[in-house]
Amino acid sequence: MKYDRIDKQLYIQNRAKFVQHMESNSLAVFNSNDIYPVSADSTIPFQQHRDILYLSGVDQEESILILFPDSKNEAHREVLFLKETSELIAVWEGEKLTKENAFEVSGIKTVYWLNQFPVMFKQMMAEAASVYINTNEHLRASTEVQTREDRFIVKLKSDYPAHTMRKSAPILHRIRSVKESLELELMQKACKITESGIRRLLSFIKPGVWEYEIEAELAHEFLRNRSNGFAYTPIIASGKNACVLHYIENNQMCLDGDVILLDVGAEYANYSSDLTRCIPVNGRFTERQRNVYNAVLHVKKEAEKLLVPGTMMVEYHKEVGQIMENQLLGLGLIDKTDIKNQKADWPAYKKYFMHGTSHFIGLDTHDVGLWNEPIQAGMVFTCEPGIYIPEEGLGIRLEDDLVVQETGKPFNLMKDIPLEALEIEDLMHS
Ligand code: GLY
Ligand code: MN
Ligand code: MN
Repeated sequence: MKYDRIDKQLYIQNRAKFVQHMESNSLAVFNSNDIYPVSADSTIPFQQHRDILYLSGVDQEESILILFPDSKNEAHREVLFLKETSELIAVWEGEKLTKENAFEVSGIKTVYWLNQFPVMFKQMMAEAASVYINTNEHLRASTEVQTREDRFIVKLKSDYPAHTMRKSAPILHRIRSVKESLELELMQKACKITESGIRRLLSFIKPGVWEYEIEAELAHEFLRNRSNGFAYTPIIASGKNACVLHYIENNQMCLDGDVILLDVGAEYANYSSDLTRCIPVNGRFTERQRNVYNAVLHVKKEAEKLLVPGTMMVEYHKEVGQIMENQLLGLGLIDKTDIKNQKADWPAYKKYFMHGTSHFIGLDTHDVGLWNEPIQAGMVFTCEPGIYIPEEGLGIRLEDDLVVQETGKPFNLMKDIPLEALEIEDLMHS
């Protein structure tokens, strides 16, 4: 791990929050992710499943966490199963968690090796009436891969057909959506690393630079700051590429007169940051580019004001749509007739702004959260309006990460990252 050790108090609190929502005499199981293969003996670098991480801090493969708050055996109220470490493993792969280290990381006293799992789990299940399983209920999740958790659930259902199955996902979506101050510190750190990357770019970008060279600059800056790298696949899209919302090729030359859209964020300690900035390749926006830029900036500033306790995200997205509609009228991109003829489910503004304005962010970039309840202090959202005009080879999106506060405007974790068009131009010329 490149990141500094996180206070185990965070995980102790997170577990306390989870068990508060559990039915009596039930246990909950959380599995780590697999190490995913490429081919031959190659693998993709390990990424821990965010839920076991959130509840234990264990950032290691082949780990299982069990929460069983009503267990008659006090030692079995919180249990970790870990891959047994050995001198041989230490030589080939480096240190894995010892039982002592696992306690230091997680605050969990009972740590067994994984080979003890079948026997110990049987004992615990015999005592429990129901079991919480951790299905992936993220609304945008779509995967053909069977995860370690999925495999576990299939076997569990076959081995224990008489137990009542319950869902961990709604509990996790609830508790993960409101961040602890320690989590906000980690997210702030991720945003600060992103800031270093962006500042590095302002003196680097010029006509003739390739999109992948920009990616390389960012990767360098992120890694030297103890990040593992990008929190998500970076979008480095010059000119018309910016109108392809998920452009990740990053293989074109940045041309004089174009604007480059950078949707890039560092991770830190598995927490994401998610930023978008748009930079004129030659250091000056044209008048048209500036007008579009300022229209997006206006929508962003107005939208942010709505990220206050009590707001419903559905209403928020409708209101932001209205604000955007006005800006698009001002830019001459849509007219009154377009609005008169618009369909209820596809308003005219969607021709130029076709994605949502905000999503939860945290351990996952598109984090889990409570989409259908009023927003609360401590939730963190992106705010990322955009205008995409393929016929002009121009796409502008501006994105920051914001913490909802008890009162007043949200706190912007990216407040120090240059945003005003003039400020960006000045920095490019300094
Ligand atoms: N970078 C992904 C997003 O902005 O949602
Ligand atoms: Mn983004
Ligand atoms: Mn985003």
